[in-house]
Amino acid sequence: MAEQAVQTTSSGSTDSGPGSEAAASAAPRSPSAPGTGSPAGPRATAHIDEIIATQEQIFCARQQESRRLAERASRALAGGVTSSWQITRPQPVWLSHGRGSKIFDVDGNEYVDLHGGYGAALAGHGHPAIVEAIRGQAALGTHFAQPTPAAIRVAEELGRRFGLPVWRFANSGTEATMDAVHLMRAITGRDLIIKVEGCYHGHHDSVQVSVCPEADEVGPAHKPAQVASSTGIPRAIIDLTLVVGFNDLEGVARLLDENPGQIAGMIIEPIMMNAGIILPEPGYLAGLKELLHSRGALLTFDEVKTGLTAGPGGATGVTGVTPDIVCLAKAIGGGVSVAAVGGTEEAMSHVADGGYEMVGTFNGNPLAMAACRAMLCEVATPAAYERIEALRRQAVAGIQEAIDRNGLAAQVVSVGAKGCVVFTAEPVRDFRGFLGIDDSYSHAHWLYQHNGGVFLPPWGKIEQWLISVQHDEDDIARFTANFAAFAADLRT
Ligand SMILES: Cc1ncc(COP(=O)(O)O)c(C=O)c1O
Repeated sequence: MAEQAVQTTSSGSTDSGPGSEAAASAAPRSPSAPGTGSPAGPRATAHIDEIIATQEQIFCARQQESRRLAERASRALAGGVTSSWQITRPQPVWLSHGRGSKIFDVDGNEYVDLHGGYGAALAGHGHPAIVEAIRGQAALGTHFAQPTPAAIRVAEELGRRFGLPVWRFANSGTEATMDAVHLMRAITGRDLIIKVEGCYHGHHDSVQVSVCPEADEVGPAHKPAQVASSTGIPRAIIDLTLVVGFNDLEGVARLLDENPGQIAGMIIEPIMMNAGIILPEPGYLAGLKELLHSRGALLTFDEVKTGLTAGPGGATGVTGVTPDIVCLAKAIGGGVSVAAVGGTEEAMSHVADGGYEMVGTFNGNPLAMAACRAMLCEVATPAAYERIEALRRQAVAGIQEAIDRNGLAAQVVSVGAKGCVVFTAEPVRDFRGFLGIDDSYSHAHWLYQHNGGVFLPPWGKIEQWLISVQHDEDDIARFTANFAAFAADLRT
């Protein structure tokens, strides 16, 4: 396991990798537990609303043109945006362009981009290798629905990195995980799947279950409820998706015992990245694989977020556990929409022989394959990962220093290019622990960074930063300086 690529730093300055004793010692919290209280003590609890109000005022004053566009958009675009997760408080930010490690809004404000398009912009913006690949392919044709040689190169390189030999392509993370679920069912002839409470796998029916349920919906920790995460999902489909806590091997064993011969497999983010960052405990992922295989069920890793960003071979490479099927999207396309599903010879033989028809007009689209090839072969290089690792260390050290100086009950958790600040005293080991965290601190932090010229992903405690191959020390210094100012403000 590449320990240097992973760090969780507690308020007590304990460094550890995924599955560390520190992570293992955090007991699951019930949803009704009061969480950990205020990260900065009782005075800050009252103070945080003031900070948010002040920072939202500054934010809105800097976003006049965005406001005008938002008003106009509200008549032509549903909700005034192009995806519901672009509806952010206090208002959506409209962008004009990106360059290198920076993005620029329509009001002319410059930001260090640590949002990274929800984790996709590992290449940064306008990377010469990506631009060249797209320009070259655009001149030669952008779509044939016939395979082009770049697809073989991409599959071979993904195979080398993830230890899975056979690949197919799709266009989004949602499509990739949908195909993986279909494939697990097709291979086993079974209908039930297991997913982890708090994991997000896209917006197809089978995985829109217990993504971010409310405290009064979740049920007991040993038997989490199957909660619909969206309207429009039939109850009959939800009933086919069984739910278990992260790091709960016994829970999986129980579900397998209760449903003998009926579970096709399990889909999981091997490092949870839609609940801050939650690391797997020692032996958890390997234990899952063994347990599932012992009952004729399969294991799928959803590496849509962690693939390429956790390390060159994603969380699979970091943890050393190779699943039967892996799903990739986001960063692999260098900013172009593309996804990939990789698998063992055995699993993918069901695609090869037509047992499961994995199809799509734009699958393996030449433009996407050209961008993917450039991303894998020219951008996400060993030198790039070394650089990102140095910047990760700089970010973690700067944030930890401010946490310590101000005595905050907070953690900085990072894996490769991804990281986040978790405003709680104890390391979080599952969704129940995450649920108890007061989100107002993450929102205030987001506003502080934004007004200080750093664009973190919105959605508070859920999301993480992404360091791209084009960030530099000055970018990270701006980020840590903003955090230090926020941490000091929390104490005043
Ligand atoms: C882990 C994970 N899987 C799947 C998806 C869905 O990907 P997409 O938005 O490309 O459909 C996401 C999106 O954020 C994700 O984080």
